[in-house]
Amino acid sequence: RLKLAVLTSGGDSAGMNAVVRAVVKTAIAKGCEAWVVREGYEGLVRGNAHETPEVRDARAHEDDAGFVRNLRFGDGELLKDGTGDYIGGRTLRNRYIVRVGWDDVRGWFGEGGTLIGTARSVDFRTTEGRQTAAFNMIKEGIDALVVCGGDGSLTGADVFRSEWPQHVAALRSQGKITEEQATAHHHLRIVGLVGSIDNDMSLTDLTIGAPTALHRICESIDNINSTAVSHSRAFVLEVMGRHCGWLALMAGVSCGADFIFIPEHPPSEDDWEDKMCDTIRAHRDVGQRKTIVIVAEGAIDKNLNPIRAEYIKDVLSGRLGLDTRVTTLGHTQRGGAPCAYDRIMPTLQGIEAVEALLEATPDTPSYMIGVRENKITRVPLMEAVAMTRQVATEIAAKNFTKAMSLRDPEFEE
Ligand code: F6P
Repeated sequence: RLKLAVLTSGGDSAGMNAVVRAVVKTAIAKGCEAWVVREGYEGLVRGNAHETPEVRDARAHEDDAGFVRNLRFGDGELLKDGTGDYIGGRTLRNRYIVRVGWDDVRGWFGEGGTLIGTARSVDFRTTEGRQTAAFNMIKEGIDALVVCGGDGSLTGADVFRSEWPQHVAALRSQGKITEEQATAHHHLRIVGLVGSIDNDMSLTDLTIGAPTALHRICESIDNINSTAVSHSRAFVLEVMGRHCGWLALMAGVSCGADFIFIPEHPPSEDDWEDKMCDTIRAHRDVGQRKTIVIVAEGAIDKNLNPIRAEYIKDVLSGRLGLDTRVTTLGHTQRGGAPCAYDRIMPTLQGIEAVEALLEATPDTPSYMIGVRENKITRVPLMEAVAMTRQVATEIAAKNFTKAMSLRDPEFEE
């Protein structure tokens, strides 16, 4: 009977809970044991090393009917070792790898963020940390993992999988696991799902959480529009997206922004301020009472310097005399209830993830479950990560070449 675990890693995104719910329910429906790892990879490294005897006793009675009631109420306490973490009448103190039942994830698709927690683990970046993680998993009899996170988290998953046989051999030779355990868990099954509000992964059309973040931005712009119109003001809105301008671009299209700045496409003109002012003046001349400029947090100018919202504000008020305000939407974009799409797609992807794990062999690649042209797809995880990096490198090189040739027309790549 396959025991599989699901974890969320990296920045949270709406829809991660729907993934966990779908994975848990599908696993149980297919006769597997479902587990969650709390606090991402950090939880894998911490494992259940310090669980109390009472918890061990309680675990002897676990069943699929649901062990962890209302998991959500405990997660705030998790990282405070040895304190609190009192969940649904039973203590799960210091337990990070937790078996869950059908009821534990009831209603989770409507919840924002990730109820099982996420963390940036320094220890999991080391071979030693990953070996401890392998030990903690094998101890619980788990050798199948669904990871929902961004490209860094998915790369970590693939590294973990490729090292797994070495970890098993080392743990066996240290006497930490038995020969039977080493044989039973000789390979790790891994599947990745992309949770990121930035929509920054290749080979999938939409990452989990991106549609909700976009909705959030649109709602904010709608709200800002009414006050902007009232005062005939200009607003510069900074939206998330360190390397990827998808949110800024799509929000601009959805809300009819006057001007948009994204990292992938820095303005090549020396005089982008003039161009922006001309455009906005033209919009004002035909009667528009408000101005919306959207700037992605990673937007850059032709010299690869950041374009700051405050600077745009100064240009708009200085040159056009517009009463201008800056609004940074920040983490309001990441939080809150998932939109319908971020419930449906993660659910379908979670189901596919379990199926992929059940079919996995030592010879199949680790898959990334994505969506392309409205169909759920499986692609080799490292192919998607490699293509994402390649695209990022190409964009950076293109911007660099542009910057250099603007400085020196003789410059050749
Ligand atoms: O990658 C998702 C993201 O929300 C980015 O858009 C943003 O730059 C970053 O995470 C913010 O990270 P943190 O929550 O760690 O400040």
